[in-house]
Amino acid sequence: MLETLLRAHIGDEWRDVLDELARARNWATSHDVVRLGKSLAELSAAYNDVTRAALSRPKREWLGARLVFSFVRDVPKVTLAVREVVSRRALALPSDRPLRVLDLGAGLGASSWGLVRAFALLGQQGRIEVDAIDTDRDALDLNAALVRNVARQGDVELVVHTGLVRTWSDVESRSYDVVLLGQVLSELDVELSGEERVTKHATLVTSLLAQLESSGFLVIVEPALRATSRHLHKVRDAVLANEHVSIHGPCVHRAGCPALLRESDWCHEDVDLALPQYLVPVARAAGLRYEGITFSYVILSTRGVASLPPTSAVYRVVSRAMISKGKRELHLCGYFAQGETREVAATKVDRLDRDITPSNAAWDELCRGDLLEVDSPLNKNKPRVSRVVHLRLIR
Ligand SMILES: C[S@@+](CC[C@H](N)C(=O)[O-])C[C@H]1O[C@@H](n2cnc3c(N)ncnc32)[C@H](O)[C@@H]1O
Repeated sequence: MLETLLRAHIGDEWRDVLDELARARNWATSHDVVRLGKSLAELSAAYNDVTRAALSRPKREWLGARLVFSFVRDVPKVTLAVREVVSRRALALPSDRPLRVLDLGAGLGASSWGLVRAFALLGQQGRIEVDAIDTDRDALDLNAALVRNVARQGDVELVVHTGLVRTWSDVESRSYDVVLLGQVLSELDVELSGEERVTKHATLVTSLLAQLESSGFLVIVEPALRATSRHLHKVRDAVLANEHVSIHGPCVHRAGCPALLRESDWCHEDVDLALPQYLVPVARAAGLRYEGITFSYVILSTRGVASLPPTSAVYRVVSRAMISKGKRELHLCGYFAQGETREVAATKVDRLDRDITPSNAAWDELCRGDLLEVDSPLNKNKPRVSRVVHLRLIR
């Protein structure tokens, strides 16, 4: 049940609030399907252009499409990214003070609301105080207006302080429990070449990690495109070269990302989560998908440990299930047995239908993003779930 809630969009109760804010600015509402679909198609083309040329001259109407459509679609991304650290209370709301959050490139606040929602759905209560920083004054005004209109989810209250920046260095040196970088890395320094950009963003991420409280987390979410995901994971590898930095998701290890070995691969989430029904015609009009949301993410900290030791047999499912006659296959990422040693890999593992037993039955439930515990590491040379392997789905 909880898993179902976490894998859901924000409810229809937001629709009127979002439409009202759009109407007051003479933008298309969710009822103006054709007009909204047109803006959304333009916005989407601007984001998919790697040069980001059109994004540097955004039309005001696009902000309406972000408000009425993208905001709703994007909130669950941070909720899903932080669900594990929140559910095991590695990240918890303090009882004696607000949780302090820096949301960089906050826009309308989808990442902050995603965080609020994770705490609310996972039964925590308290107050979150967000410093929402962006270069777009109009987006920040909407961010504040949304908080004035909604203010809380369940037992979690949100307070926002907005701040306009021209450069990252404008951000004052306060310390935070959580720093959010929601779909903004891909908008920065696009003029730089691949490696230069990775180095610059690794430096930025390292400096943001230094702004965290010792128990804090940095959450980075990016679009699931091949280029943006691979860039994120190159930055991940560069930042993890510092042994004081640890990773808490999605990776179950701190070794180099196996998805970077082949140019054609990239690691991303693809969650089966249909848009609220009222937005389906809008997505159709814009030529966008309305089933499933995709994104990439990493969660980092300087709190040590967390990344699992090499003897552990915990795997992340990093592909959809491939079902063919007689077997079910998944790509798993984690430590595989290689003779006497352990090696990190992302490898296709199968289980033959004729080998189904109660101890490996969890294999049928697994989908991309799930965590799986196995009684001992799977063999890399023969990556198969046998009749005697004991599997446990960790949720
Ligand atoms: C795709 S939106 C993401 C908004 C929100 N974080 C989310 O998760 O949905 C990217 C935001 O980053 C902001 N942005 C781009 N460059 C920036 C910069 N150098 N400093 C601060 N914000 C920036 C944009 O104005 C925009 O609001």
